[in-house]
Amino acid sequence: MDTTTPDQALCRLDDIPDGGAIAVDAVLRDGEESVIVLRRDDAVRAYMNICPHAGRRLDWAPGKFLVKDNLLICAAHGASFQDEDGLCVGGPCRGEHLRSVGIRVADGEVWLDE
Ligand code: FES
Repeated sequence: MDTTTPDQALCRLDDIPDGGAIAVDAVLRDGEESVIVLRRDDAVRAYMNICPHAGRRLDWAPGKFLVKDNLLICAAHGASFQDEDGLCVGGPCRGEHLRSVGIRVADGEVWLDE
């Protein structure tokens, strides 16, 4: 059975503030999910918008994230995650990771690459 999902453009690179993050909805294997897309310079990373602490979304309002000093901070209880690998370095789930989502950047767009 083919379990791949069709090519999906998640957003344009220019939609993501440099040093910030946005939320996009993507159709993954398990259905539609919210995905965090972070950018620092030309490096883009994506993670499931599900905090490993209590399973909540990390944004404080839809698509609005607190990113400070290359750390993404969960709005629910303040866990801080490194932008480059999703590792929690402070807060209630220290040592756990956000689940990463495969992406690639081509022609100024961010594509799902699961
Ligand atoms: S759900 Fe993210 S810190 Fe608690």
